[in-house]
Amino acid sequence: MGKKVTVVGAGFYGSTTAQRLAEYDVFETVVLTDIIEGKPEGLALDLNQSRSIEGFETKVVGATTGTDGSGYEAIAGSDIVVITAGLPRKPGMSRMDLLEVNAKIVRGVAEQVAKHAPNAVVIVVSNPLDEMTALAQLATQFPKNRVIGQAGMLDTARFTHFVAEELKVPVGSVKTLTLGSHGDTMVPVPSRCTVNGKPLSELLPADKIEELVTRTRNGGAEVVALLKTGSAYYAPSAAAARMAKAVAEDSGEVMPVCAWVDGEYGIEGVYLGVEAEIGAAGARKVVLTDLTESELAGLKEAAEAVRAKQSDVAGL
Ligand code: APR
Repeated sequence: MGKKVTVVGAGFYGSTTAQRLAEYDVFETVVLTDIIEGKPEGLALDLNQSRSIEGFETKVVGATTGTDGSGYEAIAGSDIVVITAGLPRKPGMSRMDLLEVNAKIVRGVAEQVAKHAPNAVVIVVSNPLDEMTALAQLATQFPKNRVIGQAGMLDTARFTHFVAEELKVPVGSVKTLTLGSHGDTMVPVPSRCTVNGKPLSELLPADKIEELVTRTRNGGAEVVALLKTGSAYYAPSAAAARMAKAVAEDSGEVMPVCAWVDGEYGIEGVYLGVEAEIGAAGARKVVLTDLTESELAGLKEAAEAVRAKQSDVAGL
């Protein structure tokens, strides 16, 4: 049987994710839901009408849901659920400013997911990301490997773009990596950055690399400041959709994601940005990489920062 993927939240992030997933043409069904009456149905109809032009057979189904759980029958049996429901940032806000309001939304959604799609792999993208991922696992009670968050793919892609732009080289020749939290304690890993296989440190002076690292760390805020009315969604949806595809295809691709870390890098029991092998089980395993002393210290610092917040969300 073909795969079914649900995207919860038909805002900018959710609708572009649904579009990408449908255009891959690997799913039988893409379900798009929202609490705004008619919006997911309208977007689904519109997306379906693009099928003959873009050349995909995937059916898109829109469903309005209520916070009482009405409408959730539409997601029944989903193999994958991407949770994008929640408010985005406004200029000047940090992701953490969204904690309380989005915790209520994500908890409610996750409870319905557990009820209607009990075997799904859940990919969380709502912010603050590391905390919302931890909360979705608590609220679904799914095995920890089956709940993952999207952040590292996006942060890494931003870093790659900045390096490619700075050196005027194709993005395809650049490899970068970011770990840690999707926030202030993001840990870009310059020691894992290469251009055509050459270490970045041989191509750019340290202060220039530091400037790109800082721009990466503030990559989301830079877009929010320009848009003024919402946050980024093209690169974020590309990242989330690729993760969902890797799950659907059980590809085993190694991706930077927010995953449950328990013992790796000497870090105990916390959702954190690391590299993981992604497949039908979600995060099959955390993949370790060599880090410099200061990068490892940064990762541990990120772990402690998100651990404190993740224990707060249990009560929200
Ligand atoms: N169930 C389903 N959808 C919901 C719910 C809910 N309980 N609560 C809110 N939504 C919907 C809103 O109606 C809206 O259509 O979530 C959608 C959010 O869309 P946008 O406001 O366009 O926000 P978007 O840019 O898509 O960001 C969504 O991703 O990057 C993060 O920080 C961002 O947390 C935010 C999320």
